Amino acid sequence: MSANAITVSYLAAAVLFIVAIKGFAKPETAKGGNRLGILGMAIAVAVTMALAFREGTAGLPIVAGTVALGTVVGAFLARSLPMTAMPELVALLNSFGGLAAVFVGMSSYLEPGELDETERAIHLVECWIGVAIGAITFTGSVVAWGKLRGTFSGAPRLLPGRHLLNLAMLGAIVGMCWPYLDAVDADAGLQWLLILAGVAAVLGVTLVVAIGGADMPVVVSLLNSYSGWAAASTGFVLRNDLLIVTGAIVGASGAILTIIMCRAMNRSILNVVFGGFGTAGSAPAASGDGPQGEVQETDVDGLVAELKQAKEVVIVPGYGMAVARAQHGVKELVELLQERDVRVRFAIHPVAGRLPGHMNVLLAEAGVPYDIVLEMDLINEDFPETDVALVIGANDIVNPSAATDASSPIYGMPVLEVWEAKRTVVFKRSMSTGYAGVQNPLFFHERTRMLFGDAKKSVDAIVGQLRD
Ligand code: TAP
Repeated sequence: MSANAITVSYLAAAVLFIVAIKGFAKPETAKGGNRLGILGMAIAVAVTMALAFREGTAGLPIVAGTVALGTVVGAFLARSLPMTAMPELVALLNSFGGLAAVFVGMSSYLEPGELDETERAIHLVECWIGVAIGAITFTGSVVAWGKLRGTFSGAPRLLPGRHLLNLAMLGAIVGMCWPYLDAVDADAGLQWLLILAGVAAVLGVTLVVAIGGADMPVVVSLLNSYSGWAAASTGFVLRNDLLIVTGAIVGASGAILTIIMCRAMNRSILNVVFGGFGTAGSAPAASGDGPQGEVQETDVDGLVAELKQAKEVVIVPGYGMAVARAQHGVKELVELLQERDVRVRFAIHPVAGRLPGHMNVLLAEAGVPYDIVLEMDLINEDFPETDVALVIGANDIVNPSAATDASSPIYGMPVLEVWEAKRTVVFKRSMSTGYAGVQNPLFFHERTRMLFGDAKKSVDAIVGQLRD
């Protein structure tokens, strides 16, 4: 393969990745974007393999076998895992990226190829950075994966003097670079790289164990960004332009996503990484704290009667809808209401659920038309004209104290103002709190009715009655 053909193929793959990400911006174009991304990756893998075997094909069966095995395992996981388990899959995949950066950094250090004096110095630093970021990403992602799966405790583990400890390890990572650069031979340099990998691996663990399990989605997004930067530094080590571009895209988009998630929760990234949210010091109110008062319940019959009178209905889905897998029933409910000339729309909070776009994906999976699924800013003003707001398994994202109570841990977080509706019905199983651990005054509001029970069972019962 000529150098020009390689450059053009890599450029095509990079453009496909960028266009793919643009496609993800809207549900209508997301599938197309995904296909373009797959095409870009297929070109990248094919060209990289062609390059690797330019000199001889001795290792081809091993590489082809590994790629085939990876493809089968990846396809199986993607098909079989439920949406709620997606953050842990992403955490695991991030760890692979980190580990690959460690291996590539070390092997490229041992076999750098033909380099002049300046190139050699730059290459040594690139290997150092790649191994450091890769090792932090690897162990940090493994801990995040374990916390999300429940293998490790989700509670933040705050080691005494952890900020000092982390700072000391960061100092060691930077400081050890000098003796490494001055190493007399490859063996001595490799020893420094191994020590570096060990220290960075411990730093990855101490950073992530201190973060509460509930903040893991943000941390996974941050680690995703790190894995992108690790890939970019690997690209520099291997002189592979596509890897540099792809790594930078993943690094930058992961960082932007992390910032968006933090903003939507009204938290700073430093507060997430160092705050130990869910512990004393930055503790959210305990489950029983907060507003008390009388809770008014409703039942399926009562709600169906109200829905039959309604003209405007807004559905607010949250994490509980995902847990209950109620989205298909919700779609049926929408169709039945539409048959009765009720205008039904969905109001989507940017951090509803546990993943960016979590609700959009579930509703799209159930076949809900995109044009009735509206982002928070587009529908918040319409609640006063809404006859019935159905809050299905959502809690924090409809908590009025975020707007009114300056002492609330979620104060300042923009929320869906469902309490402005003429009637609000909350589907949940108990009075327990949501992700942020704070009680919700909405449940005690005079126009709110609680429909206790599993969201799927409640929705199915309503659908059954409306059908009859
Ligand atoms: P939450 O505040 O976590 O509330 C979910 C509610 O669903 C719970 O109160 C729970 O009450 C109910 N529930 C659980 N299983 C149910 C079932 N089977 N049937 C009916 N109800 C069920 O969720 P939310 O309102 O979607 O807010 C999301 C939270 O996650 C925010 O605080 C956000 O900051 C945080 N977060 C989001 C993201 C992203 S990117 N989406 C990332 C990190 C953090 P019961 O147990 O009483 O049923």
